[in-house]
Amino acid sequence: MGVLTDRRAFESYVTAARSRWERLWSGDQWVISVGISECSIAKGALETYRHLELVLAAGHIRAVLRRVGCAGWCFAEPFVEVKMPDSPPIVYGWVTTERVPELIDGLRRGDLHADWALGVRSVEPWRGIPPLGEHPFLRHQHRILLEHAGVIDPESIEDYIAVGGYGAFVKALFEMTPEEVVEEVKASNLRGRGGAGFPAGIKWESGRRTPARPKYVVVNSHEGEPNVFKDRRLLETNPHLVLEGLLIGCYALETPYGYNFIGGEHALALRRFQRAVEQAYEFGLLGDNILGSGFSCHVRVRTGGGAYICGEGSALMYAIMGQRGQPRTKPPRSVEEGLWRRPTVLNNTETFASVPAIIRNGGAWYASLGTKESTGTKLITMQGPVRYLGVAEIEMGLPMRQLIFDVFGGMRPGYRFKGIQTGGVSAGPLREEELDVPVDFDSLTSLGGMLGSGGFVVFDDSVCAVDFARYLVAFSRYESCGKCTPCRLGTPALVEILDRIRYGFGRPEDLEIIQYASKHIIELSLCGLGQVAPMPLLGMLERFRDEFVEHITERRCRAGVCPLESAVAVR
Ligand SMILES: Cc1cc2nc3c(=O)[nH]c(=O)nc-3n(C[C@H](O)[C@H](O)[C@H](O)COP(=O)(O)O)c2cc1C
Ligand code: SF4
Repeated sequence: MGVLTDRRAFESYVTAARSRWERLWSGDQWVISVGISECSIAKGALETYRHLELVLAAGHIRAVLRRVGCAGWCFAEPFVEVKMPDSPPIVYGWVTTERVPELIDGLRRGDLHADWALGVRSVEPWRGIPPLGEHPFLRHQHRILLEHAGVIDPESIEDYIAVGGYGAFVKALFEMTPEEVVEEVKASNLRGRGGAGFPAGIKWESGRRTPARPKYVVVNSHEGEPNVFKDRRLLETNPHLVLEGLLIGCYALETPYGYNFIGGEHALALRRFQRAVEQAYEFGLLGDNILGSGFSCHVRVRTGGGAYICGEGSALMYAIMGQRGQPRTKPPRSVEEGLWRRPTVLNNTETFASVPAIIRNGGAWYASLGTKESTGTKLITMQGPVRYLGVAEIEMGLPMRQLIFDVFGGMRPGYRFKGIQTGGVSAGPLREEELDVPVDFDSLTSLGGMLGSGGFVVFDDSVCAVDFARYLVAFSRYESCGKCTPCRLGTPALVEILDRIRYGFGRPEDLEIIQYASKHIIELSLCGLGQVAPMPLLGMLERFRDEFVEHITERRCRAGVCPLESAVAVR
């Protein structure tokens, strides 16, 4: 493919890509797609893919074999979608290598293996298989960011363009001024998806107002928090969507310099985003004088070494500059002094990925989704003993109860709901009686929980509140960068007290000390890590205080996981 030199060349390419796409789906050959992402690779998807290659090499059927990304239903990996000449695409879950011959042979004989099917990609049922959209996991979702997840090949810019990709960027480039782009993002009331929920349009406007140059736009794809895996899935499944959002951001800021900082552990996300950048350069959608518009943009990819703190905005910028990734005091804010002390707009991966739809459909359309103060959709990851583990995209405001028991399918047989940890490691849990709270930025905060970046963990009776709180605080202790004293010394102190309680040496006054020490850590720490590190512990203490008291006064752990007995015996 040669470089696209102007808008007309882009539009002609779109037409060609669309007809190629339609031919693929309407031809008389089979189309077999296999979801290849980190989640599915762990469950044998590469082996499934290789086995399918062997089956096709035997020549019994004429088929196009494709690789697609994760579609969010990690619980059903490896998934394989089969489109036969006379059928809609049928999505099958749990297709391990052993099942490949049985599935393909069955389909050739007309046996649809309906019991393995998640659904058909159509609005009508087909030969007894219901539409995919009626699957309980998908029924309550509203997929904008995940619209093409599991359908397009993440390593194909052609696929992305065929489904409308880069249309929003081209619209912004030729039909909107940078100011109008910012106005549209402001009208959408899109709030940052990295945790704090700051309005993206306001940040972009502040970045524009700062006169110094050059300016930088940075995607935060670090995602080092436990229990959260939405950004890496987005990059694995649709990297061009994030890149398009970044390009629109650079255009709005009138800067040619974009970065994406990707957590070093997310190897596939890193590779696929790098590939997307290379392809965009090959097509002339990155580089100098893009499509003859006069706007130039260059994107660089940087990666971290695994320290959670490098996801914090100012630490991330030091890491990009090759310095030690540690937070700094603010002000100045990054929009005034960020990378190389120049104005820098930093947003989360999901925030950028939301921008193309806003430009395409308008800020008012986006603001009509979700709630008044938390507009749009949100990616959610759920862990714990629930039926449907994976990544879901819901409209903001869906009640938590519906999220857990409908979208994620409720508790697996044999497990009883005890609570749900919210906000990754940055907030407290909710109990059963609090689950009617809407999932949005402000409602969860009012209960001491947090939407954060959308990572939740459901836990059952086999989890001890003291032990779980210890795990969450120990993560912050381990990841503390050590720059400021309250966090460096305060988080180990909390872990020490919790260990004392877990081992049966707890004292009644320990619960007071936890409150007192936590207050100091929260109020005096320099950055967000320390400022929220005690929150899960305070939340557990508030919701499950009786368990803490039992450990101290009765030396009893009702979940039976704390090492109380052994320690008491030693004493
Ligand atoms: C310890 C720590 C880790 C963080 N890690 C991330 C991260 O991995 N990804 C992210 O987008 N934001 C992370 N943040 C929040 C960022 O500092 C920043 O607020 C965010 O990237 C801004 O983007 P947004 O406005 O689109 O949410 C972290 C903050 C702290 C304090
Ligand atoms: S609060 Fe913790 S992580 Fe943040 S600067 Fe201080 S020591 Fe480092």
